[in-house]
Amino acid sequence: MATRGAAGPFPGPDPSLPKLDPCRPSELLSPTMLTANELRSKYIEFFKTKGHAEISGKSLIPENDPTVLFTTAGMHPLVPYLLGEPHPAGKRLVDYQKCVRTGDIDEVGDPAHLTCFEMLGNWSLGDYFKKESLAWSWEFLTDPAWLALDPLRISVTVFAGDENAPRDEYSAECWASIGVPVNRIAYLPASDNWWAAGATGPCGPDSEIFWWVGEGLPPALSNKGSDPGNWMEIWNNVFMEYNRVDEKTLVRLPAQNVDTGMGLERTVTVLQGKTSVYQTEIFAPVISAICTAANYEYGKDEEKDRSVRIVTDHIRSATFIIGDPKGPLPSNVGAGYVLRRLIRRAVRHGRKLGIEGTFLVRPATAVIDNFLGAYPELEVNRAKILEGLDAEEVKFLETLKTGEHEFEKMLPNLLKNPSKVMSGRLAFKLYDTYGFPIELTEELAGENGMKVNRAEFDEAFKKHQELSRAGADQLFKGGMADTSDVSVRYHTATHLLHRALKNVLGEHVNQKGSNITSERLRFDFSHGAPMTAEEVAKVQAIVNEQIGRDLAVTMTMMKLDEAKASGATALFGEKYEETVKVYTIGDFSKEVCGGPHVERSSLLGKFRVQKEQSSAAGIRRIYAVLE
Ligand code: ALA
Repeated sequence: MATRGAAGPFPGPDPSLPKLDPCRPSELLSPTMLTANELRSKYIEFFKTKGHAEISGKSLIPENDPTVLFTTAGMHPLVPYLLGEPHPAGKRLVDYQKCVRTGDIDEVGDPAHLTCFEMLGNWSLGDYFKKESLAWSWEFLTDPAWLALDPLRISVTVFAGDENAPRDEYSAECWASIGVPVNRIAYLPASDNWWAAGATGPCGPDSEIFWWVGEGLPPALSNKGSDPGNWMEIWNNVFMEYNRVDEKTLVRLPAQNVDTGMGLERTVTVLQGKTSVYQTEIFAPVISAICTAANYEYGKDEEKDRSVRIVTDHIRSATFIIGDPKGPLPSNVGAGYVLRRLIRRAVRHGRKLGIEGTFLVRPATAVIDNFLGAYPELEVNRAKILEGLDAEEVKFLETLKTGEHEFEKMLPNLLKNPSKVMSGRLAFKLYDTYGFPIELTEELAGENGMKVNRAEFDEAFKKHQELSRAGADQLFKGGMADTSDVSVRYHTATHLLHRALKNVLGEHVNQKGSNITSERLRFDFSHGAPMTAEEVAKVQAIVNEQIGRDLAVTMTMMKLDEAKASGATALFGEKYEETVKVYTIGDFSKEVCGGPHVERSSLLGKFRVQKEQSSAAGIRRIYAVLE
């Protein structure tokens, strides 16, 4: 048996595991036929046996991060704790988290990419590190008592090293002593083996685990580095010891953390011996509902199958987004815009399948019914989901009808043109004025023996994008909002506010929470009574006075003791072990903080407190804006 129980010494090779001879002839260990629901439970159970506390997954709409539209990884809601705040449930955590990532949208429809997926995660917040993390991942995957996956079909990667962090020989040694053959361990660069949730924040080298999806058994020398197409990632163990403060600054975190993410859908696929996530019970009822609507038998035509998969993926994403307790309805901004594009893309692919009327409600119902055990919010929000989807679908079908009508009106003139080419300018007009998608214009043109000058359309479209939609389309591609100067300005304003509150109310004032969006800051602090109007006015005046003084904002690195001795406010107390960054705003404020900040206080503009209210017992809350 592989080591079980609490984090002990590194277990070393496990004599009970089959010896890893990559040349072993055929027979594979038989896969454990787990369903997604069973895998979720087993994962949580396994990490509980390793002393982890189960925490609940969070909303798809991130609360404390203005830089992303969706929760894109299991670690997202845990960022404050990875940065050093103590987690109420302890230092070892396990959960499952729904995630949305639209960055790989073009890959969706293939066997493995999804815009909505579940991530199984376990975390160490400054507790265990590489050796336990890797050993436990291996044990869970291969131990006959858990997933019993064939070790011969697993390969791993470790970080090759660069100017930011050294080559991760240690993780490679850990893998080797577990029994992974050297040939199955690839050292890969940061593009593969450095993980960060965004442009700033906690990050670090990672070690990824892959499953062989090629024919038979993998050749002896095959690994992700030498043979990337045949290995599918199923689990990522990130060793988060760094914080990316800005493009140039990488600092060490107060603790060495572990963030792992196992892809639920992919692992279920592997466990069931399938080759595509869409072949599992996770998607089967959704596929069936779509095929019924299209009167199509899945598997008959590869192009249509791809459309079915795209609709399946997008409907699941849309259902989860609307069904989230904080989920938006389709709109033209932010997460609502991404949602709109997902729904409209689903409708378009539905039409490719020959579906003419509305159809989204049935497959969405299949999604709700399939997931309400793990995500009860889907049941709670059933009506909101179905009505929201239906309304958007009806609206989009209207758009399509108008577009088709306009095309019909253009047609006689178009047909007079002997070149049989419709100008891109006209196609763009249909798109720009009526929202009619270019693919459909091309389709209609094709039905009438014509082509569309796509280059001309693309040029007009590009110009238009540059002018107005660049931001929004970027959001759709990356799922990332603008990490704009706005949040940086609010961050600096928060420091001024913190100091001003201490000056006016007393040194007992301490930051209890902070949340910044592109519209405002929210600041929670300890103080026993509501502030008087006079106190609020005074705080506001002090902040504006400091802004007006055009103070320089500077950063110095120092040891925490030194920082405290110098009078810097430290938010996380003794959680900092090594060097910390201290931000000073002129002679006014000094705080231990990860940054980033603006360079001069005058860049903030005018500061105005909107509201002062109670947040919890002994804690007050201020909302403020920069104008
Ligand atoms: N946060 C890591 C990932 O999403 C585990 O891959």
